[in-house]
Amino acid sequence: MARFGRLTDAPASVVLAGVRVLDPAARSDSVRDLLIVNGIVAESASDDVPRVDADGLVAAPGFCDLHAHLREPGMEGSETIESGTQAAAHGGFTTVCIMPNTDPPLDDVRSVELIGARSQGAAARVRVVGAATRERAGERLSDLGELTRAGVVGFSDDGASLPSASLARAALAYLAPLGLPLIEHCEEPALARGALMRAGPTALRLGLAGWPSSAELTIVERDIALAEETGGRVHFTHLSTAAAIDAVRRAKARDLNVTCDVTPHHLALADTWVAGDRHFAWEDGAFDAFARLDPDLAYDGRTRVNPPLARREDTLALLAGVADGTVDAIATDHAPHPPERKLVEFGAAAPGMIGLETALSLGLAAVEAGCLSLAQLLRAISSRPAELVGEQRSLAVGEAADLVVFDPGARWTVSRDNLASRSANTPLLGRELTGVVRLTVAEGRVTFDDLGRIGRDFKE
Ligand code: DOR
Repeated sequence: MARFGRLTDAPASVVLAGVRVLDPAARSDSVRDLLIVNGIVAESASDDVPRVDADGLVAAPGFCDLHAHLREPGMEGSETIESGTQAAAHGGFTTVCIMPNTDPPLDDVRSVELIGARSQGAAARVRVVGAATRERAGERLSDLGELTRAGVVGFSDDGASLPSASLARAALAYLAPLGLPLIEHCEEPALARGALMRAGPTALRLGLAGWPSSAELTIVERDIALAEETGGRVHFTHLSTAAAIDAVRRAKARDLNVTCDVTPHHLALADTWVAGDRHFAWEDGAFDAFARLDPDLAYDGRTRVNPPLARREDTLALLAGVADGTVDAIATDHAPHPPERKLVEFGAAAPGMIGLETALSLGLAAVEAGCLSLAQLLRAISSRPAELVGEQRSLAVGEAADLVVFDPGARWTVSRDNLASRSANTPLLGRELTGVVRLTVAEGRVTFDDLGRIGRDFKE
């Protein structure tokens, strides 16, 4: 029986015998015994430490999600810190950075302290992204200095871009000496107004208003210029277009203080999913948007997400960006919503899909297809995002164990019954995926255990 643990549990001890240990930051990849003794990666273990046959399993540094919505406070019907961190642990994540578009928004020190208190004993570390503007209203900056001292990892009005260049410039200028990033949702409001999906042939066929690439690129180019001028650090989140990735690639070539992430769903699912296609973007599906639409699958509100699913050529450019390191991180944008906000007509559906529990499987599908190497995937989902929020990720002897162990070949079917999230809004529901997390250890504590035997041993 799988079980969840908490960061406040007693430290774990286990020997993972014959596991493939892949540590992307250390550039190491070898099959060996991995020893954890009292929560620390060890060189030797006494005979009473339980030994698990981990043949065929992969151990990697714990995943770090730079972008998740855990909906607390205010929308606990969709997710809570408890359910969301269990979903994280189930997906192999040991850190989740939560977005501030809660009700009320996380825009002051008290709200950061509230999250800190509610996260005690959660199943993953919870780090807070503070609202960049008061009440997330896009008018006046939050108290960025106080929030920095309270421990936030960055600032964002996610769900919207900072509405004016002058406000974004002020935020970046203020943040430059503080060292924290402005985490920008890139959507120029006038260009995206009224749009329900990505502009292109599929939108044309479905008769839905389209969101052009320029809606994203305009903000990316604007903020690159502002970061250069102010010396501030900008992180673009959930990028979805080839043009934006190219802009980041050029900015990085000039050594500007610019980083970015993409979501697993933008890597794997193209806009044709809105019309009912169910191929991954890299497959030769030959989907014809102008063929007869499947009434059971087309216009499914669960495919509505913001930014919208992109065109196939964009998804392939995002994958290339992860492979060459232009894209720093794969971040889930886990966005839980209740059925009454998703199982409605497409235009009325709330944008967003859950992602913590399916991220690894979508990434492994891209690896299987040859779009990424396993090391590139793991770097983008563990060591590099952890580095961006100042966390250590190492499987070296003497370090606190913070890791995931997964079976890269095991298959599972996504269903309401096997998701820890309170919400199940994903178009992957009912689909068989490859890649199953068997064990997650955060700060030396078992937060998810599906290895069975060690679960019982650790309970005492
Ligand atoms: O799809 C999305 N959902 N994109 C966002 O930017 C916000 C998020 C949410 O909060 O549901």
